[in-house]
Amino acid sequence: MALAWREQGEARRFFFPMFSMMDIPPGQAGPLISDVRQSRSSPASAQHGLGGARTTSIKRIWITVFGLPRLMGQTQHSPTESETHAMRVVIMGGTSGIGLSAAERLTAAGAEVIVTGRDPEKLAAAKDRVAGAEQVDGASETDVTEFFERTGAIDHLVLAFSPGALGFGPLADVSLASIRGAFDGKLFPYLYAIQKADVTGSVTMISAATARAALPGSVALAAVNGAIERIVSPLAAELAPVRVNAVAPGAVDTPWWSFLPEDQRAAQFTSVAADLPAKRIGRPGDIANAIAYLIGADYVTGTVLPVDGGFTVA
Ligand SMILES: NC(=O)c1ccc[n+]([C@@H]2O[C@H](COP(=O)([O-])OP(=O)(O)OC[C@H]3O[C@@H](n4cnc5c(N)ncnc54)[C@H](OP(=O)(O)O)[C@@H]3O)[C@@H](O)[C@H]2O)c1
Repeated sequence: MALAWREQGEARRFFFPMFSMMDIPPGQAGPLISDVRQSRSSPASAQHGLGGARTTSIKRIWITVFGLPRLMGQTQHSPTESETHAMRVVIMGGTSGIGLSAAERLTAAGAEVIVTGRDPEKLAAAKDRVAGAEQVDGASETDVTEFFERTGAIDHLVLAFSPGALGFGPLADVSLASIRGAFDGKLFPYLYAIQKADVTGSVTMISAATARAALPGSVALAAVNGAIERIVSPLAAELAPVRVNAVAPGAVDTPWWSFLPEDQRAAQFTSVAADLPAKRIGRPGDIANAIAYLIGADYVTGTVLPVDGGFTVA
């Protein structure tokens, strides 16, 4: 028991260095965090919770280190349908499939949407359908830094890119380089974009149903998308009042599947659809609707929204 507690203490020190510095007794970490959350929305509530001078100073240090830089200069944006004309939205990975569908849907609702991607042909095709289309490699720190410096403040950020099916296949057959590539092309660029973007309203990431399934051949994809789903709640706490959510699609008919020859893809879709409660494969618009919902849902944060035709209950 003592050993177990010591190990937990080590873990707490690793994840919460502030706590170890202050030698907080076991069991007080949870109340401290919720107390800080309350104190952000209601200064009066800061009087409650753990109480005492030490608690107050812990709160002050916690807010100073983790809270204030995010809170300063950021006001909560509460878009409604009638306000969409005022919204500036960046969709990274917005020149194809899910991202492009979301871009068109939000543009039709009056939002100013800037999409990014790498391929000049896809960018040229998207350009006339949205407010702006910029060549940005989401995996390039330089590209991403410069892009967000150019763009300035935005209301909403949607992260909808990935390196496709890289890492797909039984673990025994997948190279470590592919698995690393799957992370390098999605998880790390999503984190970097969130670091660099000046967002006032919400961040919506696209994960995948594979994160919570038991599909052979999906180990690397489950790892990447599971990581993305797992960061939603701590980010929502850390970036508040900016909201952070994810949409978790099932199989959606987009160019993501272009690694399969046409006939194999059709067979795959038919077989997946037959097992789904919805009895059809997903369309990009299904996911775009969920993205638009989360962008406008002022009271929803820290959520992973499955949009998978019932895949995760089938
Ligand atoms: N389709 C599905 O069945 C499915 C299921 C679950 C989850 N998802 C997830 O949904 C998201 C969207 O996928 P999708 O199906 O819409 O795929 P898609 O049609 O292939 O679109 C991917 C988009 O991301 C861009 N992109 C890829 N790598 C990029 C990079 N390094 N930097 C900037 N842009 C990049 C692509 O443009 P360029 O290639 O020109 O850069 C394109 O605009 C992905 O995160 C994917 O993992 C898809």
